[in-house]
Amino acid sequence: MYRAQFETEAVHSGRSDFRRLGVHAPPLDLSTTYPLEDLDEAIASIDELVAGGTPLGGQAVYSRLHNPTVARFEEALAKLESGEDSLAFASGMAALTACLLAARGVFETRTGRRGRHVVAVRPLYGGSDHLLTSGLLDLDVTWARPGDVGRAVRDDTILVLVETPANPTLQLVDVVDVVRQAGEVPVLVDSTFATPVLQRPLTLGAALSLHSATKFLGGHGDVLAGVVAARDEVWIRALRQVRLITGAVLHPLAAYLLHRGLSTLPVRVRAAQQTAAELARRLAENDNVSRVWYPGLPACDPLALVGEGLQMSGPGSILAFEVTGGAPRAARFLRHLRWITPAVSLGSTDTLIQHPAGLTHRVVDEEGQAEGGITPAMLRLSVGLEEVNDLWLDLAQALDLTRDRRLVAHSAVCV
Ligand SMILES: Cc1ncc(COP(=O)(O)O)c(C=O)c1O
Repeated sequence: MYRAQFETEAVHSGRSDFRRLGVHAPPLDLSTTYPLEDLDEAIASIDELVAGGTPLGGQAVYSRLHNPTVARFEEALAKLESGEDSLAFASGMAALTACLLAARGVFETRTGRRGRHVVAVRPLYGGSDHLLTSGLLDLDVTWARPGDVGRAVRDDTILVLVETPANPTLQLVDVVDVVRQAGEVPVLVDSTFATPVLQRPLTLGAALSLHSATKFLGGHGDVLAGVVAARDEVWIRALRQVRLITGAVLHPLAAYLLHRGLSTLPVRVRAAQQTAAELARRLAENDNVSRVWYPGLPACDPLALVGEGLQMSGPGSILAFEVTGGAPRAARFLRHLRWITPAVSLGSTDTLIQHPAGLTHRVVDEEGQAEGGITPAMLRLSVGLEEVNDLWLDLAQALDLTRDRRLVAHSAVCV
């Protein structure tokens, strides 16, 4: 069957029943509970839901078990990720927690044994790193470099976890190579920075593609959500069971907004990417900037993973840089910005900047930060949809106002 282009899918996915329903916008179902006229039908539906399925005969029972508006967004996102299906959660962290919990069950089903070992590559988002190291999920974690994943995998490894591009250093991990090294062990790729516009990990062999949907998928800084797309039904059922038990569901209004966000996702991602590429170039040439990390700069893509037809079709709109003068100047620099908001999070229509070592990765100890390549003076910039010269003028005037005339520097990229 003819498969439409990604942009067309982004606009139309999860909407195939609209003409039959006689609507032009998705119905928003805010019900927490549903009338159950036929008890036998309701019991059959409950049994299927508890087993990780969808309501039999469409009989929804209770919103924590299934909600049609959330399911509609999940169907749409799965299509864009080339997945079997996807599952939405109350936040990116809830989605990751569910994956780690579900991984135990999937492992036990596959091997008949119990496992709690996870291999992970640093850096990860600070919260994800914290979840792994906190002991909360009773995991045994081995941190590995991307090329050492195969050596770190054991016969009780339940999951390999990578982020690409990674938060906040933009490190690129070769997904095909990690999948090869992992062998039978499922690989989860946190693809938040890339979005399905630029990268589809399931087509590269990953079992799971995870997003903090709070970021680009929502795209306007007003929805907190997480979503994970899976390649096969085993994972989908396992994740649904975890979600039903733990209750970390997404509110239907948030799902409605995310579904709406998908239709403009390709346009937003490409526009912000174009601006980010130009800002990265200008920053890398600026004497007040000592380092720049951006996947579009050749030195930051040593494995040649970025480009048309490659792992990531474009470099995205997140970059990191260091100003000369280190962390003290970085703090002063943040205070002088006018359009660019000093705030955590990313992927919004407006440009945000933040200090990873002090904020998003504060919960990662010094050793973990150093292992992940996070430097004390690093600033992470999430480029939005403002005009490129306005953003550049903002950066340039803040650099100028905080200039230390004694420092003579040159810029370097990804070293
Ligand atoms: C790469 C990445 N993964 C996961 C998360 C967690 O998502 P949330 O804040 O929606 O829980 C974040 C949050 O910043 C992130 O940047």
